[in-house]
Amino acid sequence: MAEALTIEKTVKTVDKRNDLNDLTSTEWVQETKSFFYQKGLGAGSPEAKYEKMHPAPFSFTDITKLIKFFTKKDGKVLDPFSGVGSTIKACVELEREGFGVELSSSWCKITQQRLLVESKVKLDKEHLICGDSRDLKKFFPKNHFDFIVTSPPYWNILEKKDHKANKRVVNGHETKYSEDENDLGNIDDYEKFLTELSKIFLSCYDLLKAGKYMCIIVSDFRHKSEFYSFHSDLMYKLTDKKLKKRFHLKGIKVLIQNAKKLFPYGYPFSYVENIHHQYVLILQKPKDERTK
Ligand SMILES: C[S@@+](CC[C@H](N)C(=O)[O-])C[C@H]1O[C@@H](n2cnc3c(N)ncnc32)[C@H](O)[C@@H]1O
Repeated sequence: MAEALTIEKTVKTVDKRNDLNDLTSTEWVQETKSFFYQKGLGAGSPEAKYEKMHPAPFSFTDITKLIKFFTKKDGKVLDPFSGVGSTIKACVELEREGFGVELSSSWCKITQQRLLVESKVKLDKEHLICGDSRDLKKFFPKNHFDFIVTSPPYWNILEKKDHKANKRVVNGHETKYSEDENDLGNIDDYEKFLTELSKIFLSCYDLLKAGKYMCIIVSDFRHKSEFYSFHSDLMYKLTDKKLKKRFHLKGIKVLIQNAKKLFPYGYPFSYVENIHHQYVLILQKPKDERTK
């Protein structure tokens, strides 16, 4: 009986030394699994309305898991490619302070509307910046954020005129983020795209508090007959030992998209993958690296 009471106590309390999150030991351990299943909203959900307008959103329910693990209540969270504001919405639900940067003014307007309708929050110019993430260091002070989480453009793959794009056209939805030349999704050369994107993520280093984390959600993809291992290409750029300020890779979680429809790509001639997972690169700014 005494033993049962002790176990009950340890499971339900947050360790006093835990300065990362508000989870109990049991909750913490569950979240260290190297995979999780995508939990979409369901097409009929009223909360899917704004999300569906964007060509590549993530579900705020998936991002909730990461925010809960990597922050405490009231923690400051940045999404440098905020799209239709899924990260900010998750932050509101979890009582964190969400900040977003988004290049396209139309996605910014939709974010404002979404947060007002779904979360009854009016975003100000400090929390939603309509601008280029190449300027992150102008927008925010150093050592400011407890967590950075985002999903960036995946090169120019939205240029593909495939069945997914056709379906969006039929439904009256955008197939691209924008026509803006500063949109990373409009860079034609893959190496140039990777370099530009890495520069933005490396600039996030100074904005994070020492010891805090950045999670980047990315998928690999095919372009013509080539398969691009985007997650590993990006990971190497951000953790390169030659860099003065480099992130430490702490893990790579797989986000399993088991509900996606299968297509008979390649059948019956060759192996062409149905890519039904994304990666979450988990990077940390070292604990002793407060930016001066
Ligand atoms: C994969 S989407 C992010 C979607 C977001 N996670 C959501 O749930 O709505 C990438 C976003 O990056 C934006 N973007 C592209 N280039 C940018 C830049 N240079 N600065 C800021 N945002 C940019 C695009 O407009 C697009 O909305």
